[in-house]
Amino acid sequence: MRTFPDGFLWGAATSAHQTEGNNTASDFWALENRPGGFLPDRSGDACDSYHRWPEDLDIVQSLGLNAYRFSIEWARIEPVEGHISRAELAHYRRIIEGCLERSLTPVVTLHHFTTPLWFQKAGGWTSPEATERFRRYVRAVLPILDGVEWVCTINEPNMLAMMANMVKAEKREENVAGAMPPPDQAIADALITAHRAAREELTSFKAGWTVANQNFEPVDGADAECREWAWSREDQFLDVAADDDFIGVQAYTRVLIGRDGALPVPADARRTLIGWEFHPAALGNAVRHTADRIPGVPILITENGIATADDAERAEYTDAALTGLHEAIEDGIDVRGYLHWSLLDNYEWGTYAPTFGLVAVDRTTFTRTVKPSARHLGDLATGRTAL
Ligand code: BGC
Repeated sequence: MRTFPDGFLWGAATSAHQTEGNNTASDFWALENRPGGFLPDRSGDACDSYHRWPEDLDIVQSLGLNAYRFSIEWARIEPVEGHISRAELAHYRRIIEGCLERSLTPVVTLHHFTTPLWFQKAGGWTSPEATERFRRYVRAVLPILDGVEWVCTINEPNMLAMMANMVKAEKREENVAGAMPPPDQAIADALITAHRAAREELTSFKAGWTVANQNFEPVDGADAECREWAWSREDQFLDVAADDDFIGVQAYTRVLIGRDGALPVPADARRTLIGWEFHPAALGNAVRHTADRIPGVPILITENGIATADDAERAEYTDAALTGLHEAIEDGIDVRGYLHWSLLDNYEWGTYAPTFGLVAVDRTTFTRTVKPSARHLGDLATGRTAL
């Protein structure tokens, strides 16, 4: 039987915009609701977790998990520049307390892809004032973080910098993340500066950021091309975390790199609902790559999962991913926990079609239905089932 280290965090993850609903002051809401927009679905009420978070936390607890990752929505805290909503701070404080009351370790993300619309209109991340705006938001949130140990500053800055170009091109890429347009380097640099500023404010916490680990694999001898591809899309963001308290590893699949860049997923590959290759080895390999790049930095798996309509496939994927993770731990890599993406079937940035959830959500009534894969993860966490 494979055992995980003492104190290992076992949990599930969500983000605010993908689950809360009616995040009306955010830039993504504006994008979704633009007449003639290019996104197939609007987030709308999402999973109504803004109101139903106690039920979500009850589910996490009832499964036997001990951690919950969620994000605080800047657009709710500061819907208008300079106006900090005390009511919204109190809302997120209640969620943190809700976690602590249920003996769930909260893993709090301060920024998960969305920003207030005013921030975007005022120049976004490349405005000369962006860092100080973000710092001000982080300072506003500090008083509600009492009892929190783990704080993620910015979720997947590498994806954010790549999405910027995708949004500009008004095209939703259906392909794997790593094959997206190269990051906008000005935005990447700005995010790095903002992360460092946030870290200065977060000295009482384990603070870090989370990177989309894409398992770039060279084929046909394209080693040099692969290194270059990986540097701009992933490694520069890992390197920034060399002095952080932890690094969040988020891995789902791999991307094959040939002489001319990313290759399409091979025609005969097993795929998930989002078109990505079914490749659970991604997790262990991502952990190894991260540990090679920034040795000694504790790793927290802040996301790993699969978009599938076949729940047995989710359990199969999770078992294989955890097996690879366990091997990496056995080899001496310091991994502190595993947070599955996602607790809920939620808004996948423009569409509700790919279902990543351990728990189904009825799109009309918001009724939650716990899937067998969720119970399976809970059983692994509590040792009721052996890996
Ligand atoms: C993001 C999540 C997203 C997931 C699946 C990550 O890129 O942090 O918001 O839903 O992967 O695509």
